[in-house]
Amino acid sequence: MNKVLHEFLDQDLEGLSPGPVGWDVNPDRAPLDMGARFGGRPVWLEVGFGSGEHLVHQAVINPGVEFIGCEPFMNGVATLLGKIRAAGVSNIAVHPGDARDLFDVLPEGSIERAFLLYPDPWPKKRHHKRRFVTRQHLEPLARSLKTGARFRVATDIPDYVRQTVEQVPLNGFERLVGRTNDWHQPWDDWLSTRYEQKALREGRVPHYLTYRRT
Ligand SMILES: C[S@@+](CC[C@H](N)C(=O)[O-])C[C@H]1O[C@@H](n2cnc3c(N)ncnc32)[C@H](O)[C@@H]1O
Repeated sequence: MNKVLHEFLDQDLEGLSPGPVGWDVNPDRAPLDMGARFGGRPVWLEVGFGSGEHLVHQAVINPGVEFIGCEPFMNGVATLLGKIRAAGVSNIAVHPGDARDLFDVLPEGSIERAFLLYPDPWPKKRHHKRRFVTRQHLEPLARSLKTGARFRVATDIPDYVRQTVEQVPLNGFERLVGRTNDWHQPWDDWLSTRYEQKALREGRVPHYLTYRRT
C-alpha cells in the first residue's frame, strides 16, 4: 500500500466508524446506537464494497441517506477513503472488516437497503458453502433489514445466480421481478463497479437481482 493510502487510513478511518463493531471494543456484542450515530435518517448497507466507487456514487445521489460500507480488504478501504475525500461526502460510515461482525451488532430492522455487488464467486463446488448467499450470512442480513427493505445482488457467475435464486427466498426475502423480468437490465441508479468492468472485459454477463425483505 502506498504512503498516501496509509495516510487516508491513519487520518480518516476512525472518524468514519459506525460505532463499536469489533470484538475487541464490543465483546458483549451490544447493539449499535443507530439513532445517536445516524440521527434517525435511513441507513443503507453495502457489503464488500471493493474500491468503493458504487458506495460513493450512491452517497452522492442520496444525500438524505446514511451509508455503512464494509470491506475487509484494507487497500480497498483506503481507496474508498480517498474517494470520500474527493467527493466531499459526509454520509458514509466504514466498517473495515467482515460483514458478519457488523451483523452481530446491527439492531433488528435497522437497515433500509442492502447491496451485494459481485460477491466472491468461490467457483469450486466444495467452496459454495462459503458464498455470501448462504444461510449463515442471509439470516443475520435479513434480521438487520426492515420489512420491505430492498436487497440488490449483482453477479456475473451463472452458478451464483442459481444459488441466489434458490437460497435468498428461503431466508426472509421475495424476488421482485420488473415489467420485463430482465435480470440483465441494470438498476436506473446503477454505477458499474470495478469488478463488473473486469467481468465485461473478459466476456462475462452481468445479472441484477432485486429482493424485498418480507
Ligand atoms: C469480487 S470483489 C467485488 C468488489 C466490488 N463490490 C466490485 O463490484 O468491484 C468481492 C469483495 O467482497 C469482499 N468480501 C468478501 N467477504 C466479505 C465479507 N465476509 N464481508 C465483507 N466483505 C467481504 C472482498 O474483500 C472483495 O472486496
